[in-house]
Amino acid sequence: MERARGREMSSLEGKVALVTGGTRGLGRAIALGLAKMGAAVAMNYRRDEASAERTLAEVRALSPGSMLVRADLEDEGQVRAMVAETARQLGSLDILIANAAATAFRPLLESRPHNLERTFKLSVGAFVAAVQETSKFMAAGGRVVMISGIDAIRNLPGHGVLGGAKAALESMVRDFAFELGPRGITVNGVNPGFFDSDSSRMYAEHVGIPYDEFNARAAARSALKRLPTLEEIAAVVCFICAPAASCLTAQTIVLDGGLTLGFPLAS
Ligand SMILES: NC(=O)c1ccc[n+]([C@@H]2O[C@H](COP(=O)([O-])OP(=O)(O)OC[C@H]3O[C@@H](n4cnc5c(N)ncnc54)[C@H](OP(=O)(O)O)[C@@H]3O)[C@@H](O)[C@H]2O)c1
Repeated sequence: MERARGREMSSLEGKVALVTGGTRGLGRAIALGLAKMGAAVAMNYRRDEASAERTLAEVRALSPGSMLVRADLEDEGQVRAMVAETARQLGSLDILIANAAATAFRPLLESRPHNLERTFKLSVGAFVAAVQETSKFMAAGGRVVMISGIDAIRNLPGHGVLGGAKAALESMVRDFAFELGPRGITVNGVNPGFFDSDSSRMYAEHVGIPYDEFNARAAARSALKRLPTLEEIAAVVCFICAPAASCLTAQTIVLDGGLTLGFPLAS
């Protein structure tokens, strides 16, 4: 009886999740994690068809009802259509994971209006539109999880624009949590520090440090002397989505092995 209750508290059987940028990197790991817990997952992507088809096959092997939903999240109309299409095809929408992000690596002093416009549309604009639209379908027990970044809380050269957007998102997580809380919906963020993905490898290249050295230097500053894996980050996101986390809301959890609290001169 108690064990059955334990399983119930960590099951997403019968739930529907939408993961933005869900076909590569962290989004893929989250989609796989949610599917393992029993959710049907809609994975959004913009243009990488090959990754999308590969991930769809992997996720469908765990949760056959899962699907892809193509949308450019810089376009508010496409964000709203993505949410409505997911709810129409999968019958409801219980979990929204706002994960997709992209930016041009550029100092704030050199950023141009279109850099701000595009980065903020994709992160802040898409988040607000997606939560607004999702809230039309979400019942009590619903979950919204926003993926933040170390740039929201620390200086990261070339990431001033995205850092500003992520800081805005962390603030909006708190406000959405209070707006949706009375309906039994929780809203949280996960701030994962650094992890291995196409974008962190591109960033290491941008700052001119070989990826292994970049990784080793960041790990040296952390408490655990290593960075989190995609699966470890996805596990925390999945926990937030589980019934067991019903009273966790309005928080952004920093999940970085202790990196952001490390001594600046550690080597
Ligand atoms: N990598 C890190 O070390 C790190 C650290 C802290 C926080 N984060 C955050 O973690 C999240 C995931 O990062 P990641 O490194 O796993 O990302 P990634 O490997 O660069 O993948 C980005 C995903 O976002 C999608 N995407 C990009 N622009 C889009 C648009 N306009 N419309 C729809 N989808 C779009 C991509 O779709 P396509 O495949 O179709 O292009 C892809 O699925 C992001 O929010 C990022 O800011 C990353």
